[in-house]
Amino acid sequence: MTEGFRFLPEYFPPAAQKALVAEILAILETNPLYRGAMPRTGKPLSVRNTNLGALGWVSDIKGYRYQPIHPDTGQPWGPIPRVLLDLWSDVSAYPHPPQACLVNWYEADSRLGLHIDADETAKDAPVVSLSLGSRALFRLGGLERSSPTSSMRLASGDVVILGGASRRAYHGVDRIYAQSSTLIPGGGRINLTLRRVTAP
Ligand code: SIN
Ligand code: FE2
Repeated sequence: MTEGFRFLPEYFPPAAQKALVAEILAILETNPLYRGAMPRTGKPLSVRNTNLGALGWVSDIKGYRYQPIHPDTGQPWGPIPRVLLDLWSDVSAYPHPPQACLVNWYEADSRLGLHIDADETAKDAPVVSLSLGSRALFRLGGLERSSPTSSMRLASGDVVILGGASRRAYHGVDRIYAQSSTLIPGGGRINLTLRRVTAP
């Protein structure tokens, strides 16, 4: 296992998960999910996204980047919920707040290919990830695409931290166990990742 990777199972109890999903669903009304695309090819992403916070991660034919406005509405992203800011303070060991919360919305057949989160310049800040809804088969590798990988199931309420060396480790989601939870309408999964983008 890569140094700096932490798994905090059932960090959020069911009542807190439910309240947070309600808060996220309400924010999505004015800060909607959109479907990004792969750089260069423009191939649609399997996962729909939106963001919360001052900056949001966007992928389209032009490339990956962080930007302060929603690509469809042209409005600033919605606020990061208080409980997520508290989560960051409690587990990140980083002295400055997160600037981005990427919302990944997985349907039954959604996948996320092996990748590194490499678009942030605050390289010493971890990525803090919270899973809600259906279980996912998460794969964690090493610093090279060819490094050995190991897989684990992430369930609703679980928190994962990519810190230390694992901050630059390959990772992805191979499958969703659709209907393994009723928390999200449609039986899907929401993954929320908190990131510090720029060095303070
Ligand atoms: C991500 O790598 O951005 C998301 C990982 C996950 O969905 O668990
Ligand atoms: Fe990632």
